[in-house]
Amino acid sequence: MPGAAVRPVVGQPVSRVDGRLKVTGGATYAAEFDPGPDMVYGVIVGSTIANGRIAAIDTAAAEAAPGVVAVLTHQNAPRLPYQRHQQLPVDPAVGERLHNLQDDRVRFQGQTVALAVARTFEQATFAASLVEVTYDEEPAVTTFTAAARHAVPPDPVWAQTMFGFREEVGRGNVDAAMREASVRTDAEYVIPRENHNPIEIPATIASWQGDQLILWDKSQWVDNVRDEMASVFDIPAENIRVISRFVGGAFGSALRAWPHVALAAMAARVVDLPVKLVLTRRQMFNLIGYRPHTVQRVALGADGNGRLMAIRHEGMAETSTYEQYAENLLNPTRYLYSCPNVVTRYRFAPMNVQTPTAMRAPGEVSGIYALECAMDELAVALDMDPIELRMRNEPDRDEDRDLPFSSRSLRECYRVAAERFGWDRRDPSPASMRDAQGNLVGYGCATGTYPTLYSPASARAVLHPDGTAVVSSASSDMGPGTYTSMTQVAADALGLPIDRVRFELGDTSLPKATVHGGSMTMASIGTAVQMACVQAKRQAFEQARVSDPEAELGGVMRTLSEPVEAIAQNTAAQQQANYSMHSFGAVIAEVRVDPDLGLVRVPRIVGAYGIGRVVNPKTAHSQCIGGMVMGLGMALLEQTIIDSRNARPANSSLADYLVPVNADIHELDATFVQEVDPHVNPLGVKGAGELATIGVAPAIVNAVYHATGVRVRELPVTPEKLLAAPRSAAARG
Ligand code: MOS
Repeated sequence: MPGAAVRPVVGQPVSRVDGRLKVTGGATYAAEFDPGPDMVYGVIVGSTIANGRIAAIDTAAAEAAPGVVAVLTHQNAPRLPYQRHQQLPVDPAVGERLHNLQDDRVRFQGQTVALAVARTFEQATFAASLVEVTYDEEPAVTTFTAAARHAVPPDPVWAQTMFGFREEVGRGNVDAAMREASVRTDAEYVIPRENHNPIEIPATIASWQGDQLILWDKSQWVDNVRDEMASVFDIPAENIRVISRFVGGAFGSALRAWPHVALAAMAARVVDLPVKLVLTRRQMFNLIGYRPHTVQRVALGADGNGRLMAIRHEGMAETSTYEQYAENLLNPTRYLYSCPNVVTRYRFAPMNVQTPTAMRAPGEVSGIYALECAMDELAVALDMDPIELRMRNEPDRDEDRDLPFSSRSLRECYRVAAERFGWDRRDPSPASMRDAQGNLVGYGCATGTYPTLYSPASARAVLHPDGTAVVSSASSDMGPGTYTSMTQVAADALGLPIDRVRFELGDTSLPKATVHGGSMTMASIGTAVQMACVQAKRQAFEQARVSDPEAELGGVMRTLSEPVEAIAQNTAAQQQANYSMHSFGAVIAEVRVDPDLGLVRVPRIVGAYGIGRVVNPKTAHSQCIGGMVMGLGMALLEQTIIDSRNARPANSSLADYLVPVNADIHELDATFVQEVDPHVNPLGVKGAGELATIGVAPAIVNAVYHATGVRVRELPVTPEKLLAAPRSAAARG
């Protein structure tokens, strides 16, 4: 039964298969599930101090309020087992994840001290407002400056929980090389705390049916939520089902199960009713993680030809008092440039805060901000074009791990980006270019890079006799288009038209998957999807006794008497040991700066990326321009302002915490260079999500320097910082 060949869809700009569901309201987010009419609502009461103990807590008025079902505090909440998390080899002596309502200890501002549960959300909100708490307040570490005085190296046990984390690494002799260098730069770069602000707020609905727990949760990793709840409640993971079909943006904020997830499950058990718990946006600033405040010192030494002789990169980041969350600030510095003498060092500054977390290219985006601004400063010191400086320091291999790169297209990325941008129109002198309105014009560039990660994952393919296929894995789609791209991979592996294939995700009842993060979803889960489809197709042919390999699967399936099912686990990544695997990108930005007001506009950002095979150029492009918007926010707008008296975020709303809006965004040009990488994974994909954000902020900041002659090293670059800085004579014009 030979049929017309089905046109391959991998590489095609397929529109989102779930687009219609999303725009018609058919896509159901965590807080929108309906477990039945008896569902009640939980509202969290947060502490108003940053450190201390609860002296007394009076819930009488709250309990008497209309509709109240229960008010949970540390005095009446059930003691939970809180077993060690299966995924984290954490010694409790070192630090411990936060426990809900298990004792009177307050460790950060806004920490949950009570939960009001009522028939309606409004009743629960009112009851929460009636809970009276008095505290024995203790001195708190509320500023990074104070925390930095007590900075500590990573604990070796915690370091095991940090993917690829190495605290202190070096090669050569940096001190000696720095002395010999003919040009040196040495400066400190600061990134303030930045809070996650996805449109979808963290939300959990918990429902117990006997000893079975069902959670509808906002999550990037349902399997991990299940494991975490299994350890918190010390119940078998098989008794827990976690469902997360759609995610309204997460960017790292839903990688781990934050305490409110267990709190919802605890409350549901106490009141024996389904409980919905949705954080407020203000609570989101304290009750989930955020990008930690970092201070980095980067010193560079080069010879007269711009060849790097020495790099010293030290990073310090805030963490909580009870957990060490580390950023991969320093990894790129070890392999991005050819340099014989490199030392990197990491320190933690523990504060009375919630534990920070991964946020939009965690670690790399912050580390590369410092490194790429430092490279721009070096280019100025050398009087050399900043792209030329980077090209002169391109390495032949990864000098940190002494491995060849599986592929590295950075030269091509810069060639393409520079051409599309018109880099040759740049006058190298700072503050030398103006537009017709008198604004200062600047062009800046920066490199992005991110590791190509790969983790175990599995997938199932079911071929039905009606000619349709259902492929599934417990993955997630926080926005990049997992539903769509996995459907493409499955359709091609099966040789079926894409409209005959449906992909399911976001449910622990599906085959186990790795985290939807670290830009590894397509590499890891896509490989499992492809393998499951190939296997199912082979089984279908066997069952139908079709020996012609060219036969069209749809026809074969219609001869089946029952569905064919195959489950596959992706193959181990042996290549990871033989190659250094990273994506690379070149970002160039144009800024226009009002010389009187210090207002910065970004009329253009051009990015060229080497990300291996592009499964869907449409969704990948969307990811990349989204990353540019996030990078622009990081460069010019985002910062959480902490009240030093009590560690309270002073701007915990979308009115006060600034993120880019449509009026801030102009021309975004994202393009991919041709790159075939046979080593990274069977699909040849390197991932785009994190890379898209990396390099954007330094490109903008470097462009601001070029426009004005003012070097702002502390993000965000605000008008007041630009106007306060001493300006070059030229800029005063
Ligand atoms: Mo990403 S910050 O790994 O969701």
